[in-house]
Amino acid sequence: MSAPDARLNLPEEDQIFRLLRQLDLAPEASQRATAQAIGVSLGHLNALLRAVTEAGFVKVGDRAGPDRRQRFAYVLTPTGAAEKARLTDRFLARKLAEYDALHAELTGTTSGLRPLTHRTNIVQNNLAPIPELYVSYDSAQKLKHDAGNLLSWDLTARQVCDLELLMNGGFYPLKGFLTEADYDGVVENMRTADGTLWPIPITLDVNQAFADKVEPGTDIALRDAEGVILAILSVTDKWVPNKAREAEKVFGADDLAHPAVNYLHNVAGPVYLGGPITGIQQPVHYDFKARRDTPNELRAFFRKVGWNKVVAFQTRNPLHRAHQELTFRAAREAQANLLIHPVVGMTKPGDVDHFTRVRCYEAVLDKYPASTTSMSLLNLAMRMAGPREAVWHGIIRKNHGCTHFIVGRDHAGPGKNSQGKDFYGPYDAQELFQKHQAEIGIEMVDFKHMVYVQEKAQYYPANEVPEGTTVLDISGTELRRRLREGLEIPEWFSFPEVVTQLRRTSPPRDKQGFTVFFTGLSGSGKSTIANALMVKLMEMGGRPVTLLDGDVVRKHLSSELGFSKEHRDINIKRIGYVASEITKNGGIAICAPIAPYTATRRAVREMIEAYGAFIEVHVATSVEECERRDRKGLYKLAREGKIKEFTGISDPYEVPENPELRVETENVDVDNCAHQVILKLESMGLIKA
Ligand code: PPS
Repeated sequence: MSAPDARLNLPEEDQIFRLLRQLDLAPEASQRATAQAIGVSLGHLNALLRAVTEAGFVKVGDRAGPDRRQRFAYVLTPTGAAEKARLTDRFLARKLAEYDALHAELTGTTSGLRPLTHRTNIVQNNLAPIPELYVSYDSAQKLKHDAGNLLSWDLTARQVCDLELLMNGGFYPLKGFLTEADYDGVVENMRTADGTLWPIPITLDVNQAFADKVEPGTDIALRDAEGVILAILSVTDKWVPNKAREAEKVFGADDLAHPAVNYLHNVAGPVYLGGPITGIQQPVHYDFKARRDTPNELRAFFRKVGWNKVVAFQTRNPLHRAHQELTFRAAREAQANLLIHPVVGMTKPGDVDHFTRVRCYEAVLDKYPASTTSMSLLNLAMRMAGPREAVWHGIIRKNHGCTHFIVGRDHAGPGKNSQGKDFYGPYDAQELFQKHQAEIGIEMVDFKHMVYVQEKAQYYPANEVPEGTTVLDISGTELRRRLREGLEIPEWFSFPEVVTQLRRTSPPRDKQGFTVFFTGLSGSGKSTIANALMVKLMEMGGRPVTLLDGDVVRKHLSSELGFSKEHRDINIKRIGYVASEITKNGGIAICAPIAPYTATRRAVREMIEAYGAFIEVHVATSVEECERRDRKGLYKLAREGKIKEFTGISDPYEVPENPELRVETENVDVDNCAHQVILKLESMGLIKA
């Protein structure tokens, strides 16, 4: 096969070309998936594999998995890679000739398109197309049909984001979810098993019940929340990760105050699956469609408008004047065009939602000089991993065709740890980026924090402020306070259009929804105080009030549940979900379950704080007092062993460490307890005095 064109007819050459391309994309995919992807039968695939192996284009790779006997990984040899490039050129040349002929037939003139001499020399590296993991439309239709019979995994919101970037080349050179060896390397030293720089584990976490059904060698269908099949994962690895080690190494500390560490321990499943992906279709987005671009779409855009140097600005916040100044300076410094590249996948819990942010970005886009700046939305699920995240963001921007990347102060910082200290130093991200920038292949434009200098009426990097001048700055916390309290936001800080958008979604606190979440032992007085509070709030009027009492919820929402840890968690998460919907829509939710577990209460807090305030009230009546009162006679039954798993007697209650309010009920009447909550709500600005 040294000169395949001499011996092969066209359809065969096409099949060889498709096979080499597919093996390059997904070397460890099952034979069935590969056959489907290139549209041939399994038997024919085997004949093709034999031919390309004999020709030295492909070799059977070493696989370290437990299923060594059953499946092989086929990898392209350097000759195979060259052959693939040659066949690609021939394929394109043929298509061009066909197009030319058609053009001549229809118009009587030549098309004017010139054949490419060699693809890779035509455009700059960052503007040439990047490999994606999608199969052709026809193969996708076939795969989708057949995948109906495969075992299915319903992807979480974060996994959908990860999968989209895997498939569209945003996570190039990854070809699927990390295998165990790649994961170990990435966690340990930011490198996959073959030495490629990759700082963040991209893993498919699943629950134990699903993991039990999957063995390496299985193909599984990956579906979005509506059940649409997006891809096939050819599972090569299944393992139970050491999450504490992952937290320490990747995020710097096994501390639940870090949002990604909390996610790792309390949201992610216990088992990871790894293997190559065969992409079938992009996740569907209904919002801001025209503003979303794949890496190849952005590269094509840069090619078209002739942007050879592009500096990317990553953000998860609305753009204010300081950001505009910083991006201007960066573009000037790099003598490049500017890409505002905000994250709209998942950001830090509590951030301004992406709908509002995109409206803000759109409002300020025309404040940049025309045709120097563009904006595109990135469906990334951030991890807030500071330095490692900066390196990751750089790789992702490089894949999107950018040549420069802005790294500012505290890039992708997660906030304070459980000791109240910052997880990372303010310029750690710049340092780590610097170390790896040559290898990433994108240049860092680093910036200090930008501040406003009053006398000069201009922004300066904090380290370049002229001596003896007055520096003005408004922190994120201060901005939120001003929005909450309806206070002025000065023009030097932001643009009126941005402030209008922010005020629309962040009305003053006394008009926002919120949740009061009572927790305490059975019989502690939660329901009674909650009822009194509800009546007081209804008397004040203004917002609708809903009471989700423990007993009532168990009757209407959770009647099938018992009191095991698993069932209690489901019950509390249901309450949290309903309360978060009420809060989102501007109402007041009052919840009064026992909610004995700290982690579950925290999960509920996060659900609600995305939309409004969460006030945890610990009704701190002691178990002795509850038992003495025993209003429902349950403690007696629990002592007699007639009720099992009874909180405080035969089941745990984890006392909240930092509730917004703790109320003692012994020797204090109900009215007074409810009044303490009212005072707390007033002090937080949630109700007007
Ligand atoms: S949990 O843990 O939050 O899901 O419990 P919750 O839904 O609030 O419990 C509601 C009421 O169930 C009664 N009950 C028990 N409580 C604790 N442990 C056991 N095993 C149990 N069995 C029944 C109890 O009366 C709870 O009501 P309150 O209002 O707390 O007294």
